[in-house]
Amino acid sequence: MTIREAAIRDGLSIASIKDTLAVLADVIVPTLGKGVLMRRPRVVALAERLNLDKRAVRRLQSLRRKYGDGPLLLPIPGRHQAVILSPEHVHWVLQGAPEPFAPSTLEKHAALTHFEPNVSLISHPPERAERRRFNDELLESDRPAHSMADGFRAALDSEAQEMLAAAGSELNWDAFITAWYRIVRRVILGDAARDDHELTAMLAKLRGAGNWAFLHPDRKGIRHRFHERLKEHLSHAESGSLAARIKARPNTDATAPTDQVAHWLFAFDPGGMATFRALALIASQSDAGRRASEEVSAAGETGHRQMPFVRACILESLRLWPTTPAILRETTEDVQWPGGIMRKHTHVLIYAPYFHRDHENLPEAHQFAPDLWLTPAPGGRWPLIPFSEGPGICPAHNLVPTLGSMMIAAILGRRRIELKDGDRLQSDRPLPGALDNYTLRFSLAG
Ligand code: HEM
Repeated sequence: MTIREAAIRDGLSIASIKDTLAVLADVIVPTLGKGVLMRRPRVVALAERLNLDKRAVRRLQSLRRKYGDGPLLLPIPGRHQAVILSPEHVHWVLQGAPEPFAPSTLEKHAALTHFEPNVSLISHPPERAERRRFNDELLESDRPAHSMADGFRAALDSEAQEMLAAAGSELNWDAFITAWYRIVRRVILGDAARDDHELTAMLAKLRGAGNWAFLHPDRKGIRHRFHERLKEHLSHAESGSLAARIKARPNTDATAPTDQVAHWLFAFDPGGMATFRALALIASQSDAGRRASEEVSAAGETGHRQMPFVRACILESLRLWPTTPAILRETTEDVQWPGGIMRKHTHVLIYAPYFHRDHENLPEAHQFAPDLWLTPAPGGRWPLIPFSEGPGICPAHNLVPTLGSMMIAAILGRRRIELKDGDRLQSDRPLPGALDNYTLRFSLAG
């Protein structure tokens, strides 16, 4: 029986071959091309220039008009692939982790195994439970501000100061990300790891291999060296760092702390992108600069944990330009939908930009709308899911905005900033589908 015949038997909608090819060309290929684990700056630049992300959103909108609410099956030979098109289905799928909708999928496994084979994201029950608990406890997933935030702020402030002094009159991505990763290594591993750029460089090579998933040979040697170096840093358990907390915790064989921490080091890269883009929004959108500066001044020395507006700007940067655009799940059993049955081992794609930028349902889709995040349920029941949601939500969904907003405060508290090439983000025009963080530059004054 062909995939099409099976889908018809199971009762779910199925896309035509032409529409399937269009989804591959407009949604899947550009997402893979940008680099899933390690961005390729040239492709990111191209995506902004050609507005590829908006084209992807338009493609999925056209499928919704044609096929209804889905889920829509794509007839790809040798694979059961579904795309989610309705908001209710997003919530249902994401609440259904880890079973029947497993966060660990074939491709994620192939990609992440290059450097963190035991990370929670690609683990199945029962190991997943302990690994997820480790992440939730250490990153304090449920707390709006991490209990160690004041200590983190000291590291962050000194690095921001040094970054600005060295930058002179212009701040660019290279200066920003170098300082950001110094902060990240200090927060996670302690001050002794501040200048271990080689650790981050080894990880970058492994992430580059991970972009190719199964197609790239295993870089066993680098992975071994990377994990040994990480273990050494963790063993010092420097006071005031997350490493100290890890050592104090009763870890078991299943915990695999170095794999979890490898993921943290990797995932702070998108955290830096989101922060730098938020800075660009603040610098270019009419009254955002004023609101952010007022909040930073009012927060003063002690209040930097609570800067709801700056925090909202980071979340808004992630709504406009999600750094994890494709949230993937795989069914662990046959799943009954209102319209029919979805087979076990079906790959389920939730493409976040389709929801975040759907102007037919979200009037603010292409505008800078930080106020969306200042209400208790951002967007109501409409899915705004930069960190996913449900049992598989990113355990750093609070920590990333906390560190990001403290970094922005550290910059705005010391300098007046202006975005160079400000016409990329004019407030009277729809915002672009992608924003190339690598070429953003700010002039610094004051
Ligand atoms: C802008 C920054 C970040 C964004 C947008 C983000 C987003 C996400 C998303 C969407 C997922 C779910 C992925 C999936 O289901 O396939 C996820 C998972 C995860 N994230 Fe993040 N993340 C960010 C940064 C971080 C950081 C800095 C850390 C650690 C310090 C982190 C730790 C994790 C972990 C451990 C998981 C797996 C959770 C699980 O196994 O259930 N993330 N993240």
